[in-house]
Amino acid sequence: MRKQIAAANWKMNLTYQDGEKLLDDILDAGISLAPHQHSIFAVPFPYLIMTRSEVAEEFNYHAAAQNCHHKTSGAYTGEVSVEMLQSIGVNYCVIGHSERREYNAETNEILAAKVNLCLQHDITPIFCCGEPLSVREAGTQNEFVANQLKESLFHLPANSLKGIIIAYEPIWAIGTGKTATTAQAQEIHQFLRSVIADQYGATLANEIPILYGGSVKANNAVELFACPDVDGGLVGGASLVASDFIAIIKALK
Ligand code: 13P
Repeated sequence: MRKQIAAANWKMNLTYQDGEKLLDDILDAGISLAPHQHSIFAVPFPYLIMTRSEVAEEFNYHAAAQNCHHKTSGAYTGEVSVEMLQSIGVNYCVIGHSERREYNAETNEILAAKVNLCLQHDITPIFCCGEPLSVREAGTQNEFVANQLKESLFHLPANSLKGIIIAYEPIWAIGTGKTATTAQAQEIHQFLRSVIADQYGATLANEIPILYGGSVKANNAVELFACPDVDGGLVGGASLVASDFIAIIKALK
């Protein structure tokens, strides 16, 4: 079975102490994951070492960075390189979240460079795509997200693409409480998989986890994750509340 993933994106929330307590509360729930199930915590940079060591003893729980720089190293004050992440044992990194695309002017081209660097350093990119409301209203969301994949991922050889996780996050559903319907989620996830299949073949496309993000909550996760092409979620707000995120992990197929 394809990997099923409950990923938390804490964004710029929680103090170190609150983050550590949240993680403890979630891990203390003792949810044992099946071999195909994973839970990933994308935390702020200063919390990565703590998160790494908290999850170290747990089966299929992982720490992730929320971003990395697109250059290897050098005079980029305030930035964090993939090599730094690798050196502290971080194996996942969120790439191209819509908030970074918008507030940090991250282009598809810059994101392609980040994806390359991650893969060179054994870090699995959790590559985000998703359309703004205006595109959804114009009905051109398929072309929009397909282009994001093409420009940032489709230069990769098949054996590299295989190591990627995709997160579809419609911008109009992020932090708005307005979730995509299961029909909308399934339709676009299936479309994304078909775009990958056209380029790389159906076998590979069927192996890539495609997560849904955008107001995933404890009360809609089961329904969303039940969609055949939805392989879990990338969760913002609800990942900050232990009982909510526990329910979301339990909703994995
Ligand atoms: P919300 O779950 O708060 O809508 O955030 C989704 C998201 O952006 C996860 O990366």
